[in-house]
Amino acid sequence: MNTAFQHQTVSRAAVRYTGVAIVLHWAIALMILSMIPMGWWMVRALKKPETQQLAYQLFQIHKSIGFAILALTVLRIVWRATHKPPALPSGMKLWERFLANATHIAFYGLMLILPLTGWIYVSSGWAIATDRPLDVATSWFGLFPIPHLPGLEGNRSLAFGAMGAHSYMAYGGAVLIALHVAAALKHQFIERDGVLAQMVPFLRAGKAAHGTSGKGKTSGLSHGFGLALVVMAAAIGWVLHLPPPLAEQPSSVEAQAEPTTTTPQSPASASQANPAQTDVQTAPVQAATAPVWVIDMASSSIGFGGTHAGNAFNGRFEEWSGDIRFDPANLPGSKAVILVKTASARTGDATQEGSLKNGEWLNSTRFPEAKFETTEFRALGGDRYEAKGTLSIKNKPLPVVLPFTLKMEGNKAQVDGALELDRAALNLGMFSDPSAEWVSKTISVKIAVSATKSDS
Ligand code: HEM
Repeated sequence: MNTAFQHQTVSRAAVRYTGVAIVLHWAIALMILSMIPMGWWMVRALKKPETQQLAYQLFQIHKSIGFAILALTVLRIVWRATHKPPALPSGMKLWERFLANATHIAFYGLMLILPLTGWIYVSSGWAIATDRPLDVATSWFGLFPIPHLPGLEGNRSLAFGAMGAHSYMAYGGAVLIALHVAAALKHQFIERDGVLAQMVPFLRAGKAAHGTSGKGKTSGLSHGFGLALVVMAAAIGWVLHLPPPLAEQPSSVEAQAEPTTTTPQSPASASQANPAQTDVQTAPVQAATAPVWVIDMASSSIGFGGTHAGNAFNGRFEEWSGDIRFDPANLPGSKAVILVKTASARTGDATQEGSLKNGEWLNSTRFPEAKFETTEFRALGGDRYEAKGTLSIKNKPLPVVLPFTLKMEGNKAQVDGALELDRAALNLGMFSDPSAEWVSKTISVKIAVSATKSDS
């Protein structure tokens, strides 16, 4: 596709676009050509269980290429504004100039607005396929996160409108590409005026002289027409895709941080959480008289794992602290309180890390800390123990039992424990993924603590 605004009066018409303009043209063209079938396929593949996982992975690639197109388009506009392109061949008819100019400006409009509508859509944190909140962070080819546009989270109408515009512009763009390619081929093989050679370095320039005209009376009009086409496609897509009113769902992802009566929760998870909570509230609080242990953070860790889109993931919390008082001979006087910074969850995958902090998962902005507080220690024989306690994530207490082994040598101790958590009982991701289509219901937690007994 040629550069827009290109057919202006030039005093000395260049024969070719500059190398940078040619590279940008073909890079963007190839990316757009891949994006349209990719977008088409992934939207459909998402609905079938056998292709869902691949579709999910493609989403990240689609978003990454889309952002590359956006960045390169901005670069291309800057380049175009500062470099004169070759003029149109002098023999072109008025209507041909009009159409050429309109098509080119429409391409610029599409290359900017199409990725922007994609960005708006993902920033809304709402999946139109399931009509539910689904906040997926964007990681640019897994290298760095790209933030959501602010203030759009949980906006359902915006999600539907933006994706309607996105899809109309994308398929409208396919029609435009077909016209553009047809015009280029006509120039090459029928007119033989060398227009294609301006963008394809190895083609020989044609017979026709390049004119100096092109701006003239029709230029403003054709640019207006080209832009109007894009805006019209976006507006029609937006309006036709507006969703029907939603009766009983909360309006934002944030609302899902707290379980509500409308939150889908399996009967099993509900019955698991409630009676147990009562137990914990009535459990006697013990006085901690056992010696204090200082955690060696460098050789201690709190890890977690599960599956995501069919693949295993493992992560750890980078920031946490613990107040441990423990004596195997004085279990009633032993106590541990562990505080974990929820924003410090790391899995090595920027998308997962971004999503973990979000509203319906750990909601780190509102609930920066998770807490595990023991209520009772029990000796199980040998070096085996268990700690009963309360795990509070997003201020929701859940009773848990942590079995662990204890190895003591002098004033050093090594504790290794593991437990499995049902994320439904902790209200993690229960609105967007209640049936564990993406993320396993069971999350395993592993704790390794090295500590030294304090003298004090
Ligand atoms: C020029 C760049 C782009 C092109 C040509 C393009 C093209 C497409 C197409 C053809 C679809 C399928 C629409 C349908 O059948 O309903 C699609 C869907 C999608 N696009 Fe893009 N896209 C571009 C940029 C972006 C960007 C930058 C993002 C995000 C940052 C994005 C996010 C998405 C998402 C999330 C969907 C699936 C929506 C759903 O859940 O159904 N796209 N895109």
